[in-house]
Amino acid sequence: MASPLGQQGRPVDDVIADLSAKREHDVRWEDGKAFGMIYDGGPGVHEAAERAARLYLHENALNTKAFPSLGAIQSEVVGWTANLLNGPDTASGFLTSGGTESILCGVKAARERGRAERGIEEPEMVVAESAHAAFHKGAHLFGIQLHKVPVRDDWTADVDAMADEVNDNTVLVVGSAPQYPQGVVDDIPAIAALAAGVGANCHVDGCMGGFVLPFAERLGRDVPPWDFRVDGVTSISADIHKLGYAPKGVSVILHRTKELRRYQTFVFDDWLGGFYASPNLQGTRSGLPMAAAWAVMQHLGIDGYLELTRVMLDNADRMRAGIAEVDGVRVLGDGAYQLIAMAADPESAGDPIDVFALGDALERRGWFHDRQGPPDSLHSTVSNSNTGVIDDYLEALAASVDEVRGTSTDDRSTNYATLE
Ligand SMILES: Cc1ncc(COP(=O)(O)O)c(C=O)c1O
Repeated sequence: MASPLGQQGRPVDDVIADLSAKREHDVRWEDGKAFGMIYDGGPGVHEAAERAARLYLHENALNTKAFPSLGAIQSEVVGWTANLLNGPDTASGFLTSGGTESILCGVKAARERGRAERGIEEPEMVVAESAHAAFHKGAHLFGIQLHKVPVRDDWTADVDAMADEVNDNTVLVVGSAPQYPQGVVDDIPAIAALAAGVGANCHVDGCMGGFVLPFAERLGRDVPPWDFRVDGVTSISADIHKLGYAPKGVSVILHRTKELRRYQTFVFDDWLGGFYASPNLQGTRSGLPMAAAWAVMQHLGIDGYLELTRVMLDNADRMRAGIAEVDGVRVLGDGAYQLIAMAADPESAGDPIDVFALGDALERRGWFHDRQGPPDSLHSTVSNSNTGVIDDYLEALAASVDEVRGTSTDDRSTNYATLE
């Protein structure tokens, strides 16, 4: 049985010292050695977030009558994001706690719209096998039959296979910009056209790309059409707590119109506690991540994001180029942004590489990747956090490849997310 909470409280200094000690085995993200999970915008961003967090540590956006500042913060952050994603004047949305919640809200809105406008009682949705696991969670929670289709050789969703699954019960067709595993952008115009053809929603998962692609485009990179400029795209999720560089707990869900947004919300007026309206899946909503996101976005401005994106993409390009030089491994697909999947190269001259054994060897050298698959590969979300360490990483990679060549590990588990 778990030990009980102590009867007597303890001095704050002791408590904080214990907490600090607990972090001993956590990944050393401050050293730039984690490729994902933490996206570090640098000291100015830290300061903006930390000072805003202190101001809003206790505030609750459950009721914006009590905290009108949080209502304003939400609408300003959502508005700035809609503008970045080329939303029309009608675009509207909400802040959520993260990408998963934004996606769940998008899935729920699609189901409600299908029921209200097309009388669909047995809703279905179509996603590629590369779409984030949160869509499966949504299908599970909201009772939607999910059709999963393969990806093409370039790792984008197979749109022909999607077309085969779209029917009169389809409420949602999903595209990713970019998808997480290999970092490529799906053919969003084709996917949106499929959805529009039956009057269904098209949700674009821009959780990873929402705060990257707009800046990559301004930097002159080749960015395929993916946002509200594409006809038929009805909703987009974009995570400020990823490459928007805010601390964890904040994402944006945007709909093309307020009417479409209405299908996401829950309103209940038959409770002894009074009128209950909630924009997303939460009840009590911490003001902290909302205010921190507001402060980080204001602190960075477009120019700050452009610079962070330029540095991040430069880091990723150098990493891709470096991996291509190492015999035994290769990058999967043609991802041009911050996400990289590294797998064994079947055309390598030497003994084969087991990438999971390689991941272990890199971890022993302090570098942390998620293991993903199929196919077995090591995932990197490169960011500004990895500035200045790419050469060290590539050195560690070459040494680790030499160390594990011809060996393998029995542990075939992947580890995107864990339970306890
Ligand atoms: C493409 C994509 N969608 C959705 C998510 C889920 O976001 P969150 O972890 O904030 O729930 C992620 C997370 O990495 C992602 O990469």
